[in-house]
Amino acid sequence: MSAEERPEDSAPVPGPEPAPAPHPGPAPVLDPGPAAAAGSGGPVSITVCPDGPLLVRGGYELLDGEDRPIDPGRATVALCRCGASSIKPFCDGSHKRARFRAR
Ligand code: FES
Repeated sequence: MSAEERPEDSAPVPGPEPAPAPHPGPAPVLDPGPAAAAGSGGPVSITVCPDGPLLVRGGYELLDGEDRPIDPGRATVALCRCGASSIKPFCDGSHKRARFRAR
């Protein structure tokens, strides 16, 4: 060990904190548009996006498999129909990487 090297100098330096696991967060919205303001009420519409999710707008209620409410956190939700999303039942855009084709 040279005079320039001291044990405390070679102690491991803590690196950056590991990134926290991604939190699914609220459902992504694909262009909610002006109808978003009516998302908590009004007639329900479901738009089938070509090779993508189902966009649900209006006075819908989202329930899990045991009829418990799921708070989508927003007026318009994009529901996955490709099966590749990591935040099911919501779309996370994975359909593009999966090259999902509806037909
Ligand atoms: S439809 Fe978008 S991730 Fe499945």
